[in-house]
Amino acid sequence: MKKIGVLTSGGDAPGMNAAIRAVVRTCIYNKITPIGIYEGYKGLIENQMKEFSSRDVSNIIQRGGTVLKSARCSQFLTKEGRLQGYKNILANKIDGLIVIGGDGTFAGAKVFFEEFGVPIVGIPGTIDNDLYGTDFCIGYDSALNTIIEAVDKIRDTASSHNRLFIIEVMGRDAGFLALRSGIGVGAEAILIPETPVYTEKLIKKLKDQSTQNKQSMIVIVAEGEKSGGAHAVAEHVKSNCPEFDVKVSILGHIQRGGSPSALDRVLASRLGNAAVDALKNGSKNEMIGILHREISHIPFEKAIKHNVNINPALLKLSEILAI
Ligand code: F6P
Repeated sequence: MKKIGVLTSGGDAPGMNAAIRAVVRTCIYNKITPIGIYEGYKGLIENQMKEFSSRDVSNIIQRGGTVLKSARCSQFLTKEGRLQGYKNILANKIDGLIVIGGDGTFAGAKVFFEEFGVPIVGIPGTIDNDLYGTDFCIGYDSALNTIIEAVDKIRDTASSHNRLFIIEVMGRDAGFLALRSGIGVGAEAILIPETPVYTEKLIKKLKDQSTQNKQSMIVIVAEGEKSGGAHAVAEHVKSNCPEFDVKVSILGHIQRGGSPSALDRVLASRLGNAAVDALKNGSKNEMIGILHREISHIPFEKAIKHNVNINPALLKLSEILAI
């Protein structure tokens, strides 16, 4: 391994910069040339890349977003696009790739490895935390803290007005953010894509709760929840419970921004370092994660495809603590 390329792809996540920094500096420490590839697979196809020095990654550990920029690249879904990417790998004499992102990023990496044999190692970076084989993805903890801070503020106004807030958080396919943030804010109910449509049970639950002398109620809804998200849930609640003063709040992309938490900075630093070591030691076609506090190696095949399940104990906990 003389040259390693690194890119960030898909939705950005706080801590990606800390991972880039760790990759670049671990490469330099090992006398490997790090190449930063801009805008994910798009930059690989368009040959947007440059050698990075240690100073190029100074002062970024604390910054949200990604200095390499990111993209969702439809061209990389085509054989022609990937072939162009491979030509640029050869032209730039890159021996291995590190891709930082989520399941879409790793699905692309897997196909690219299978077609051209370029060793690729993935670092899990997604606020969705929906990859199998790692307890945490970079960005998840920071996003959770952002959600909790926002919902705590909403709780203040909800209590002042005796209101019910339906709050939508990110998670097109996964409810991990909704479930953990819901527990963290003491939500009265949590609606996630992994469970059956919940609206009828929700009405009953809210009516029961309203008899408990609560000053406010918070329902956390994951974006991909099956009945159609926060607005759809709110309409249903309004028509069945006209006695409630219902408001909707969609937290949106604020959840993906901001300075990474301590946990994300340390996690990203460890994973960036371990990814370079993995390539040096012959790894290919796999994700580096963290399991029970130790570095883990998981084939892309297993990490993706929604193999990771919601913990039913956490769902139960949220029910018990919402009485
Ligand atoms: O994958 C992370 C994520 O934030 C999802 O939770 C969300 O559904 C999606 O990205 C939004 O992506 P975009 O910013 O491209 O609309």
